[in-house]
Amino acid sequence: MIDLRSDTSTRPTVAMRQAMAEAEVGDDVYGEDPTVLRLQELAAKTVGKEAAIWVPTGTMGNLSAVLAHCYERGSEVIVGDQSHVYQYEAGGMSGLGGVAFNVVPTQRNGELALEDLMEAVRPDDQHCARTALICLENTHNRCGGTALSLEYMRKVKTFADAKGLPVHLDGARVFNAAVSLGVHVSAVTDLVTSVQFCLSKGLGAPAGSIVAGPKPIIDRVHRLRKMLGGGMRQVGVLAAPGLLALTEMSKRLEEDHRNAQHLAKGLASLPDVDIDLDLVHSNIVTFRLRHSSASAVYGLVKGLQGRNVLALPFRAGVRLVTHNDVSFKDCQVALDAIKDVLESMRDNTTYTNGSGTDETFAPTGYQ
Ligand SMILES: Cc1ncc(COP(=O)(O)O)c(C=O)c1O
Repeated sequence: MIDLRSDTSTRPTVAMRQAMAEAEVGDDVYGEDPTVLRLQELAAKTVGKEAAIWVPTGTMGNLSAVLAHCYERGSEVIVGDQSHVYQYEAGGMSGLGGVAFNVVPTQRNGELALEDLMEAVRPDDQHCARTALICLENTHNRCGGTALSLEYMRKVKTFADAKGLPVHLDGARVFNAAVSLGVHVSAVTDLVTSVQFCLSKGLGAPAGSIVAGPKPIIDRVHRLRKMLGGGMRQVGVLAAPGLLALTEMSKRLEEDHRNAQHLAKGLASLPDVDIDLDLVHSNIVTFRLRHSSASAVYGLVKGLQGRNVLALPFRAGVRLVTHNDVSFKDCQVALDAIKDVLESMRDNTTYTNGSGTDETFAPTGYQ
């Protein structure tokens, strides 16, 4: 199978499996796992933050970081309506932490417009919730892997600083953002107060995320991680591949981006495909079908499955994600398969009329 649904499908490399087998471990709840300590130190240094902590998942990382900033119940976090924290993290910040979402529209490129942020910040008034945090996402999953520019992020930082607000970055794929922008990752993370990034997506580790930021925030995240049941014991077996994710795998993301460009350009040459090449910035490629009905999208995905290619129905279209387990040749095979399946579907009236019976898209694209 050529699995293009998500970069979460990466399997640990041979070197990672070996590092897991040989990892020096201790009880991390006692702070005695040397491999975890090494990873946390390297992670903090890499993203230019005072402290960092390993957490089992990106969702727990975002949740604990947001709760660390918004410690007063009823305070608000400003989020984009297409953000992962709002769409796909089970409402945990509000459900578990009493934090209210103040939702602003996400622009097509993943930005939150400055004027919307200005309007969203509440006045210091007894009637209003206390605005406690702005949350950005880079790269932006639901916008198709777009990288927020440094210029934009700098503007948000200037605005947030003026309002005395911290900024948390859902940087699940911030290393992809850095590659796309052609900068060291710290150039991106310097512009936010705290960041969560995933070791388990394009970086290939089997599990784990990092939250990094000022020490008082990371100390709070540490307690919240325990509260959420994320204090783990000999977790060096997962930190060991995390170290390789940071030191080795971060260097090869450029290849995934090149493969994504190849896919995107190939797709753009197909008559049935509607794709905005200007929004393909990283390892995610999203497109729609011109006769866009849910049945057409599901028909394409099913047809591809029959050709051993896995794609994800995504918003009103399809998502393909490149990663370490997908080669340039695999991308070519996938493109040929897409072309063939679309051609065979063209004879089908349900497809061309856009009148499938099931016009509802399932909520996917969360990974
Ligand atoms: C942008 C973004 N943030 C956060 C997450 C959550 O990560 P995890 O699946 O490790 O909880 C994901 C992936 O699922 C994601 O794509």
